[in-house]
Amino acid sequence: MLSLMNVEGAIMTTVFSPEIEAYLRNLAPVRPPFMLEMEKYAMENYVSIIPPEVAQFLTFLVHLSQAREVLEIGTAIAYSTIWLAWAVAPRDGHITTIEINDRRAKTALKNIREAGLEDRITLLKGHAVDIVPKLQDTYDFIFIDAAKGQYGWFFEKLYPRLKPGGILVSDNVLAEGGVVTPDEELRHRQKTAVRRLRDYLEMITAHPNLETTVVPLSDGIAVSLKK
Ligand SMILES: C[S@@+](CC[C@H](N)C(=O)[O-])C[C@H]1O[C@@H](n2cnc3c(N)ncnc32)[C@H](O)[C@@H]1O
Repeated sequence: MLSLMNVEGAIMTTVFSPEIEAYLRNLAPVRPPFMLEMEKYAMENYVSIIPPEVAQFLTFLVHLSQAREVLEIGTAIAYSTIWLAWAVAPRDGHITTIEINDRRAKTALKNIREAGLEDRITLLKGHAVDIVPKLQDTYDFIFIDAAKGQYGWFFEKLYPRLKPGGILVSDNVLAEGGVVTPDEELRHRQKTAVRRLRDYLEMITAHPNLETTVVPLSDGIAVSLKK
């Protein structure tokens, strides 16, 4: 596991060498100034957001799958949410996103307004554990980027909400290299989350109704296609 500074100075975690990551980051799409401001804010306030090369990958997946209805668990300040909203725009799609932290949700709403995307994004404030079971809609694309230890629980509740042919993307599945670190070398508080992540990866890769691949981009991204 490696940590490095990105071009804006943010500390990012990656399973790549710093040189490869920096190279990929330079190939990432140009962002408008307010997105660069969000990246700076995230770095200064220790908010973990997807790096631009992951945003590019998500955008690619949304276009490839022609997704319209997207659900995101873990908005933070709406950086990934805005990328997803841009990706569904050609199909007049919509993003529903869930954030538990009040302060982040407020910042997210401000950023969504600044991006002019209020009509394309619905932010639900609260615990995904409470909100997800109440969702009635089904989605073409679900992005899980919240508490790693809860991915298994999220999956169980989210699976019925994913349309056949839909895509489920789970972020940070390599736990900064924790999945390949012997248990005795993990810090005590990491152990449970890492064990749950390993169980989660085994479950989604063996699931008879999913086609899953784990892409070792950034901190690991699992992409699952519902058959
Ligand atoms: C890694 S950040 C999300 C980053 C964002 N997707 C991005 O890349 O711009 C994870 C976010 O999930 C939120 N979160 C964690 N557990 C949650 C839960 N059970 N329900 C809703 N939000 C949760 C955290 O407060 C945090 O803001």
